[in-house]
Amino acid sequence: MAKVLAVIGARPQFIKHYPFEVAAKGRFDLVTVHTGQHYDQNMSQIFFDQLGMSKPDYQLQAGGGSHGAQTGRMMIELEEIILKEQPDAVVVYGDTNSTLAGALVASKLHIPIVHIEAGLRSFNRNMPEEINRILTDHISALLFVPSQQSVSFLAQEGIIQNVHIVGDIMKDMVMMTVNNGWLLARPLEDEYYFATIHRPYNTDEKERLLQVLSAFQEQACKVVFAIHPRTRKAMETFDIAMSDYTNVLFVEPQPYFENLTWLYYSQALITDSGGMQKEAYWLQKKCVTVRSETEWVETLENGNNVLVFNDLTQISDAISAPMQAFSTSLYGDGNAARQMVEGISQLCTINID
Ligand code: UD1
Repeated sequence: MAKVLAVIGARPQFIKHYPFEVAAKGRFDLVTVHTGQHYDQNMSQIFFDQLGMSKPDYQLQAGGGSHGAQTGRMMIELEEIILKEQPDAVVVYGDTNSTLAGALVASKLHIPIVHIEAGLRSFNRNMPEEINRILTDHISALLFVPSQQSVSFLAQEGIIQNVHIVGDIMKDMVMMTVNNGWLLARPLEDEYYFATIHRPYNTDEKERLLQVLSAFQEQACKVVFAIHPRTRKAMETFDIAMSDYTNVLFVEPQPYFENLTWLYYSQALITDSGGMQKEAYWLQKKCVTVRSETEWVETLENGNNVLVFNDLTQISDAISAPMQAFSTSLYGDGNAARQMVEGISQLCTINID
């Protein structure tokens, strides 16, 4: 049986890894490395517990610090592990520093890289994620993309081989959750908007963070804000008191089912997350994205996702605009993981039964 080594490290990667692990069972010898990029209990361990995922074979502690130091620490340790394990392929997900570290190490050891969620572009090179995904795409042997748009973006950069449209693995996870009845009871009787904000450009300057919180304070219904460790730290550093924001219910970062449940029962989502824009779309919720651009351009097409960045007082109007029809086939049919396993099996020339 071929050996496939997967690198995970940040919250969305634990979620993407679950459907992959399920689909890969019995097909590969799957070795998992957790870089430790996200390390708080409710940013990491809770997902393994809730989803019943296998304990990573290797647990690194490379989280925290500057981007260079963090990525460098990951690379040093990943190189040792990959040399020891000698996998037939290395799987990386998305656009985080863990993705880039895994891809760079594998490429230098001439091990084929499989990039799950390839071909996304924000065209904002100030975002570390944009650099991480561009570099990873260019050194990958197999690129799994969610839509035709990504095929075009890759073609513009000269990447035309081994690109497969399989849909989005996060859709697998959302559909599994809804269809298996894993959503929980409605968490709050009142109507509310659900919110998550953690991008450095929204959190790392006091004025900007105050604007975000003031916008939440002004909304017509309560804003339930699942606060990322970065945002919490920034509020502490800037001496911003949660108690000043009476319209905001601050909650810890939520486990997966709880997070999806908050979204499912909400009136709308306010976010700067990549993944949650899509989750809102699949659950047919209005989304206001607090960014100047998005990789998930298809969600913008009929106005169900709206970008608001410079003037946050526009959130209220954007969020209350009527919703349009949602496409049920956006980013695949919830069977991305199975197709990925087939593709990787072929790459590793495994005989599938
Ligand atoms: C990372 C990813 C981003 C992804 C996001 C999901 C990169 C460049 N960015 O950004 O693509 O959408 O994860 O959450 O890889 N921290 C804690 N506890 C934790 C995790 C982080 O306190 O469990 C702190 C870190 O020490 C740091 C800050 O939060 O001060 C941000 O951590 P970082 O690793 O940069 O990740 P994100 O901003 O979450």
